[in-house]
Amino acid sequence: MDFVEQLFGLKGKTIVITGGGGVIAGAMAKALSNSGAKVSLWGRGRSKPMEEVVGEMEERTGASGAFHGVKVDTGKTEEVKEALEKTEKEFGTPEVLINGVGGNIGKSSFIEADMETFRKVLEMNLIAGFMIPTQVFASYWIERKIEGSVINMASMASYIPLSGVWAYDAAKSAVMNLTMGAAKEFASHGIRVNAIAPGFFLGYQNRALLVKNEETGELTERGKAVIDHTPFARFGREEDLWGVTVFLASNRASGFITGATIPVDGGYLVHNI
Ligand SMILES: NC(=O)c1ccc[n+]([C@@H]2O[C@H](COP(=O)([O-])OP(=O)(O)OC[C@H]3O[C@@H](n4cnc5c(N)ncnc54)[C@H](O)[C@@H]3O)[C@@H](O)[C@H]2O)c1
Repeated sequence: MDFVEQLFGLKGKTIVITGGGGVIAGAMAKALSNSGAKVSLWGRGRSKPMEEVVGEMEERTGASGAFHGVKVDTGKTEEVKEALEKTEKEFGTPEVLINGVGGNIGKSSFIEADMETFRKVLEMNLIAGFMIPTQVFASYWIERKIEGSVINMASMASYIPLSGVWAYDAAKSAVMNLTMGAAKEFASHGIRVNAIAPGFFLGYQNRALLVKNEETGELTERGKAVIDHTPFARFGREEDLWGVTVFLASNRASGFITGATIPVDGGYLVHNI
């Protein structure tokens, strides 16, 4: 086995990605499977059944049998516990949890922010997208003395508020904060908790905010503002997330790293004038 394989190879590892039908989840799943991992994709199966998501991933990677699908709402503790049992029984013991559930709904002034939507976005990003799955997996790992690893999805909104998306800002800054808190809490069990903060990648939920015309690719004013603010002057591409995903999933590559949030943002955070 060569050095790179030893450091980054994930052969024999089972990894769960929540929000497994999402755009970023698909990119991460591809990198993990190409590195030898088996990936269980968890999602609500609303836009397409999870079997279809699994079929698409097998087609994209040519790795048949490397993916598994589970229908689950990660905002519900009992469902998450059942999904974990099912994954363990059918596919293997997960050692890495990627909290890929999240996204935003709409945009408004502060005064007009609708509280029902606000709660939904907090619930999606903070409770379903971090708290519940992390609680269930950490308790499962502690019981079995497994030195697991959690990878959360933070955002540029974790560092600097994005305009008009109040609940998303609140939730994502909390995700980054609690990544550090949970890292400290679970360190004595050998469990690592880190996060990736992607810049702007076109996902299902943010497309409407950023792209005006799907056919021509014309951007909204907000989409143009993002590109102007990104020193690399483009949206993220799926391959931009491959390295960081494999790095954080590998205990040999990042075994002494916990509580860290790694921006993958084309320089968005270092933009100045
Ligand atoms: N796309 C970006 O530019 C970007 C930037 C920074 C951070 N992020 C974060 O990365 C993560 C993935 O983003 P994306 O753009 O791929 O989003 P996406 O909308 O493509 O995927 C999110 C998936 O989560 C699923 N989901 C939502 N609530 C769920 C629940 N309760 N239970 C199970 N599944 C649920 C959705 O059905 C969807 O398939 C999110 O946390 C997002 O906030 C995205």
